[in-house]
Amino acid sequence: MQSLLKSNSLESSLNESEQVPFLGKVFVETYGCQMNEYDSGLVKGILQKESYELVSSVEESDLIFINTCAIRENAHAKIYTKLQSLGYLKKRNPKLLIGILGCMAQNLGEDLFNQELPLDLVVGPDNYRNLPQIIQEIRSKAQFAPYQLTSLSRTETYDEIEPQVINGIQAFVTIMRGCNNFCTFCVVPYTRGRERSRPVSSIVKEINSLVESGVKQVTLLGQNVNSYMHEGHDFAALVKAILEQSTIERIRFSSPHPKDFPMHLIDLMAKEERFSSYIHLPIQAGNSKVLSEMNRSYTKEEYLDLVRNIRSLIPNVGLSTDIIVGFPGETEEEFQETLGLVQEVEYDMAYMFKYSEREGTIAQRKLPDNVSEKDKSDRLTRLVELQTLISAKKNFEKVGRTYDVLVENTSKKSKLDLNGKTPCGRMVVFPIPHGESQDWIGKTVKVHITHSTSATLKGNWVG
Ligand code: SAH
Ligand code: SF4
Ligand code: F3S
Repeated sequence: MQSLLKSNSLESSLNESEQVPFLGKVFVETYGCQMNEYDSGLVKGILQKESYELVSSVEESDLIFINTCAIRENAHAKIYTKLQSLGYLKKRNPKLLIGILGCMAQNLGEDLFNQELPLDLVVGPDNYRNLPQIIQEIRSKAQFAPYQLTSLSRTETYDEIEPQVINGIQAFVTIMRGCNNFCTFCVVPYTRGRERSRPVSSIVKEINSLVESGVKQVTLLGQNVNSYMHEGHDFAALVKAILEQSTIERIRFSSPHPKDFPMHLIDLMAKEERFSSYIHLPIQAGNSKVLSEMNRSYTKEEYLDLVRNIRSLIPNVGLSTDIIVGFPGETEEEFQETLGLVQEVEYDMAYMFKYSEREGTIAQRKLPDNVSEKDKSDRLTRLVELQTLISAKKNFEKVGRTYDVLVENTSKKSKLDLNGKTPCGRMVVFPIPHGESQDWIGKTVKVHITHSTSATLKGNWVG
């Protein structure tokens, strides 16, 4: 199996007067987190520069790339189903090239070739720059041979590539890659490698070009954004630089780790209106023994202290979290502590998961996956029910208040409604007022909240 590349870049093989040949139509589909969305943008940018055309249907493509996730077993399962569904295209056109990118590629590597899937290449998240050469190399052989490139890099940040991953008025910007935390349940340190941060100047430059393209809100991305560190600049220093050197209207971020949340970062959020007062603060479990076995490096009490500090300085902060139920050895009593913590913190929203054992993780090697499927499902149901009640209560508390809403779009349900978010991250829907024909999208407007559900706020524009 090929794993090292010869230096045969297209650029070097073409002399300047030659026309760049059309190299094919590419379809890219993305699974997983926002960082994968951003990475798909990188892949598209790299291929477009080399004269590939992007298309939006597999039917008309010469190359199909699936950018995958490995976080839980069901993420893998989805990809197998997807690949199988592409088999008919490969039979119809043997020159069609199908590739797996992303975390599952990194995680499973050449094993993916042993499963009778229609698959030609497997390329990990630190190797996208090599895609044009890899494609050329595969195509240069009469018959496609399986090709794998899954080396991890300590330095690759795709720094100068500005993929412009824009959705309406908002965009993602990856500020750091990788993770050093090794939470025992998590596959990410193995699929994304070690932490590395991009220079402040290149992030500011990318945000300024997004602003020029009409973007009003950026979400700074990383597996652990607040451990950002580049030449002495920490995450708060980076945000300050963005605030000072760009006119971006709102800055959000995902995800921070509770262990790296210093007071000066909370102060900055409290002081700067353009720095969104919404924090996704994953807890994972509400019992300190479980947290220690997860290697989360904080106790329940330390986490609750952090929440108190945040709320005392930013009273209207929006808080969401991630929680895993059924971690190895989690007892009913320990799970009850998670319910108690959720009740105490009153998150606006939570992403809740059943523990899924991942190959190669510390938990998989040391801790038997011994909570039954039935108990996992039962705990998840109870947790979701509790959180739904809390989300409804938190939203109901907002009825009667007025918020600055950054308008993102017309509502999917009705073209007569607009939607956008409060500074604390809550979704608001409101009708386009009669006779108001201005362009609303991208504007920050005052909306008085009149109704709520567990997921949304409804209201009226107040001039
Ligand atoms: N870097 C982020 C998390 C990224 S993964 C952070 O630390 O906050 C998103 C979420 O998936 C995690 O917060 C965790 O709740 C969940 N998750 C990760 N590994 C999992 C596993 N093996 N089983 C179930 N959920 C998992
Ligand atoms: Fe995974 Fe933990 Fe890193 Fe988040 S901080 S990516 S949960 S190892
Ligand atoms: Fe999934 Fe990789 Fe993101 S495992 S959650 S796509 S970093």
